Amino acid sequence: MRISIHWKLTAVFFGVFAVVLIVIYAYLQPHLKEHVVRQYESTLRKEISLNRDLLEATIGSRLTGAQADLLADTIGKDLQVRTTIIATDGAVVGDSELDTAQLAKAENHLERPEVQSALKTGFGRSERYSRTLKKQMLYMALPLAAESGSSRWIVRVAVPVADIASVEVNVQKIIVAAVMIALAASILLSVLISFFISKPLSEMAAVARQMARGDFSRRAYARTSDEIGDLAAALSYMADEIKATVGKVTGEQAKLEAVLSSMADGVMVTDEKGRIVLINPSLRRMLLVDEAPEGKTPIEVIRNAAVQEIVSRTLGGSGGTAAGEIQIVQPHERSLKVNGVSVTRAGKVRGTVLVFHDITELKRLERVRRDFVANVSHELRTPIANIRGYAETLMSGALEDKEHAKDFLSVIYQESGRLARLIEDILDLSKIESGAMTLACSAIPVDAPLRRACVIVENQARQKSIVLRTEIPEGLPQVKADEMRLSQVFVNLLDNAIKFTPEGGTVTVSAVHDGAFIRIDVIDTGIGIPEKDLPRVFERFYRVDKAHARDLGGTGLGLSIVKHIVTIHGGDIRVSSMPGRGSTFSFTIPLA
Ligand SMILES: Nc1ncnc2c1ncn2[C@@H]1O[C@H](COP(=O)(O)OP(=O)(O)OP(=O)(O)O)[C@@H](O)[C@H]1O
Ligand SMILES: [Mg+2]
Repeated sequence: MRISIHWKLTAVFFGVFAVVLIVIYAYLQPHLKEHVVRQYESTLRKEISLNRDLLEATIGSRLTGAQADLLADTIGKDLQVRTTIIATDGAVVGDSELDTAQLAKAENHLERPEVQSALKTGFGRSERYSRTLKKQMLYMALPLAAESGSSRWIVRVAVPVADIASVEVNVQKIIVAAVMIALAASILLSVLISFFISKPLSEMAAVARQMARGDFSRRAYARTSDEIGDLAAALSYMADEIKATVGKVTGEQAKLEAVLSSMADGVMVTDEKGRIVLINPSLRRMLLVDEAPEGKTPIEVIRNAAVQEIVSRTLGGSGGTAAGEIQIVQPHERSLKVNGVSVTRAGKVRGTVLVFHDITELKRLERVRRDFVANVSHELRTPIANIRGYAETLMSGALEDKEHAKDFLSVIYQESGRLARLIEDILDLSKIESGAMTLACSAIPVDAPLRRACVIVENQARQKSIVLRTEIPEGLPQVKADEMRLSQVFVNLLDNAIKFTPEGGTVTVSAVHDGAFIRIDVIDTGIGIPEKDLPRVFERFYRVDKAHARDLGGTGLGLSIVKHIVTIHGGDIRVSSMPGRGSTFSFTIPLA
């Protein structure tokens, strides 16, 4: 049970008062009655003694029975107590409460203890039950000296014990009243204490609780210049310090979070036992982590032994770095480079930070570059070998054989033409890819470059009896394009369409207005492209049937140049095909 300091202090005060009063009462109680009785006795004794001279002068030996009774009555009335005058032989000669007749019947009082001791010691005292008055009484007796020097009379006073008890009760009442006053005083004190001590303390407790909840706006004000005031000031100082520190930490955390969540690279942080503390959003996406990974080991979360191995290596010994490469297949195939470094503080390894960098594109580019070099050298080697071979043959005598020499020369001519085209294509591609190709765009009608291209391929089509059709509607809006480059696109697409369409087929070029673009379709009735090759036909040097295409003089660069030209114009190109039925290449060019 919680008891507030206010009530504790009240209890202490009340307790102290109570203990003091109990001690006082316990000490007073046994002495009280005695004190009252003694007070009574001494008062009576003094009263009687005071009148001693008068009494002795009056009484003497001449005192008669009637006078004695009168005297007893007077004293009794004066002192407000029963007064008896007894002769030394025990005869009762006067009594303030008995009349003459009763007096005559009164017992001899010589044997009464108070009378006995009064006669012997000069003062007698006895407490007992009075059959005459039917009350517990206190008797006190004092001898009066007679003229002769020996006493003839004894004055006895009797007080009901109840009178003394009532005095005692009164004193007790005073003590109870004092206790009540003490209680009231302790309550009053506790209110004051509450105001000066417990109220500021509970206010400080409330402020501290608010601080714990992160609210530093409330302050405990120091009203006093004592320890409580110091405590309030210290609390306020602490609040300011914590607020500043929390602000700084929160700011740093926000910065760190912003960096971590906007990073393209994945980041994983583990503690010194290798359990995950943090995974940033990029890494979650990369590794498809959707459950809460905190507190688990990397192998449990991403099921990759290589990552676990890197973590173990960086945490081992006195820490260090470790790197590796991992392959992931979900959500799609990717290569990640993982760099791990241990975090050490005060010479101890506290954890590790792993950075995952996606190197898929880098690897692809590297592969493309390698393939390109290999392809280019291969493609160049064939025509050069042919040219050299035929030239050597001519030099070693074939020149004399006019018939063959002509054939050889025409092969040399064709091969050098192919070499020139190849070099031109490679230069074009590298120009486009390095961003060096600039377009001379203007508003032109689509049929201008198309007509130019048709002139170039017309002969080729006629030789294969292929019908070349153009379907350009009247009033088609103009496009924003470089006429020379656009005609290069048409030449390449028409060249392919004618090349890969058997004799007697048809090649159609149509154009339609499609939103902000003109869409152009080049449709042939040729051999078509298998579905698996469709996504790759725009790659450099890619040919569906290498041998067949090379026989037709192709190097596989045409479509990649076409795609680049269309893309830098702001358009898009796609292909659909049915093997054995034909292919359709569709591209868009923005309107002028
Ligand atoms: N209309 C088409 N019908 C069938 N296959 C096609 C068609 N157009 C292109 N292809 C396929 O796509 C490949 C790539 O075409 P691309 O134009 O890039 O190269 P190429 O025509 O072989 O050589 P280049 O154009 O450099 O002379 C071709 O080798 C061919 O296999
Ligand atoms: Mg081509």
